[in-house]
Amino acid sequence: MCGIVGYIGDKPAVDILIDGLQRLEYRGYDSAGVAIVNGGLSVEKKQGKVKGLSDTINRAELQGTLGIGHTRWATHGRPNDVNAHPHTNSTGKFAIVHNGIIENFTALKEKLITKGYSFESETDTEVLAHLIDDIQKNTMLPIEEAVRQALTQVVGTYGLAMVSADDPDTLIAARKGSPLIIGVGENEYFLGSDAAPLIEHTRQVVYLNDGEMAVITRGGYQVKSIDNVPLEKEVHELEWDLEQIEKHGYEHFMFKEIMEQPESLENCMRGRISIQDNDVHLGGLIDSLDTLLAADRIIICACGTSWHAALVGEYLIEGLARIPVEVEYASEFRYRNPILREGDVVIVISQSGETADTLAAVHEAKRQGVPVYGVCNVVGSTIARETDAGVYLHAGPEIGVASTKAFSAQVMVLTLIALKLAKGRTLSEAEFATYLNAVVEIPDKIREVLLLDEEIQGLARVYRYASNFLYLGRGFNFPVALEGALKLKEISYIHAEGYPAAEMKHGPIALIDRFMPVVFLAMKDSTYSKVLANIEEVAARQGSAIAITDNGMEIERLCEYVIKIPRTEEFLTPLLAVVPLQLMSYHIAVMRGCNVDQPRNLAKSVTVE
Ligand code: M6R
Repeated sequence: MCGIVGYIGDKPAVDILIDGLQRLEYRGYDSAGVAIVNGGLSVEKKQGKVKGLSDTINRAELQGTLGIGHTRWATHGRPNDVNAHPHTNSTGKFAIVHNGIIENFTALKEKLITKGYSFESETDTEVLAHLIDDIQKNTMLPIEEAVRQALTQVVGTYGLAMVSADDPDTLIAARKGSPLIIGVGENEYFLGSDAAPLIEHTRQVVYLNDGEMAVITRGGYQVKSIDNVPLEKEVHELEWDLEQIEKHGYEHFMFKEIMEQPESLENCMRGRISIQDNDVHLGGLIDSLDTLLAADRIIICACGTSWHAALVGEYLIEGLARIPVEVEYASEFRYRNPILREGDVVIVISQSGETADTLAAVHEAKRQGVPVYGVCNVVGSTIARETDAGVYLHAGPEIGVASTKAFSAQVMVLTLIALKLAKGRTLSEAEFATYLNAVVEIPDKIREVLLLDEEIQGLARVYRYASNFLYLGRGFNFPVALEGALKLKEISYIHAEGYPAAEMKHGPIALIDRFMPVVFLAMKDSTYSKVLANIEEVAARQGSAIAITDNGMEIERLCEYVIKIPRTEEFLTPLLAVVPLQLMSYHIAVMRGCNVDQPRNLAKSVTVE
């Protein structure tokens, strides 16, 4: 949440910052701003998208080779020009951008007011600017030392960047709970709250850890702990390239990412499946396999779409490997004092690897001495680095705020984990081989589903004005129903609920009338006849039933629309069934004129609680 970018080097900073903010916009789009050191300090900030800022700034006044920028997802204070970052001290000498929440900002603010400071904005960040000013004024300390001392007084989380007119050769960054990465170039350095703004400039990066501060000058950088201990930092190579974060002719990232799923799943499976050896190889878990096999219980924690993938994982691991699984919202797990015992293993799932609640679940598992493994997409992300071991999705960058290809890759990784745990234990070699062959066919089957796009567009046209939707599924496809409903509500703002199909009779059936579209996931599996009965019940009450099915005839009699997807093994059906739901949400949202890549109030990565 909130994007931070910084630059120090020999090039004009402003365009590097604006381009960087554009690439970071998926982290927040309430306002955008830049501060450039140019003899003095110039700050330009504006409510709304980066484009609005870019179109209005006076570039002639922003000549300078040191600067910071910010794109905001509002926490404290409404989205407006005044609350936009950067924030400055009262003399306008230095500027700060911040991601996170200063929890004791009210107490700090009151203290500063008694000292004569006045505040322009409603933000917690402005407090930091005045606090640093106060320390520096009273101690005459160098700016980095004043920042360090200020941070020791702060309770909460921050990823922050700061520049000062008095120090035209210094960019300061500090991190606690909100990611920051230094990009190392030739005689130039970059700062980003993730890799997106850095990729086009350099692939050499240094990840800041919590409690670390960096002083970046034109000649190099030094990282210290907040307690002032110098640290040696490893330089890492970024995996992603510029190519992958471009739209390539697609109107929206979300559509591109839906369409990319056959390839992203092939990348996710590459090197992990050996038909010849009849085996699955998960390098990241190689040393943890015995622990997983011996586990009495696996607890999977995640948020949002990743939580839906976790639910599919529960069906997969319990169903195939017969190891008990519990799925928890990371946000609940962290605060309900969960009981973890010897024999428990925690798996966390996160596309970004930065979700604050999921990271807190990692910390809770570690606190209780339980092994914790990660399933992440972003290489080098905090969760990937803080877990004991894990598996990367290799789905490539996901820019659309609504998660699509990350979901399918998460389900694929969980499928591979489940199969690996089941091999030789609950599955014979022959059964395993049948299943593995079915997994390998999935990308091509998704290609077939994607060919239904036009048909699904037609469906979207019919239902685009609906105010409510129900999504019903059973077994492996109950989580898919939840995911379908989430996709629709987050990008089209239509109210939608997902339920296990059989739960319909326990309440939601009261909602059904001719204005209520009900999307059924009706695969020809062990629950098919039951789902069919549920469709009958909806049809009897004049509800519009829409079915996603791998079966024919009888369902067509009952439903207004039937989308037919290819047949696969029951445990793999979520990977196919979710695709028409992603497409339907996408087209409905576009037809309603919604901004699908940047839906209102949302941000790609939720790094605050
Ligand atoms: O990066 P994560 O997978 O940890 O993110 C979790 C959720 O915030 C995320 O899945 C969110 O629900 C998406 N907007 C769903 O499309």
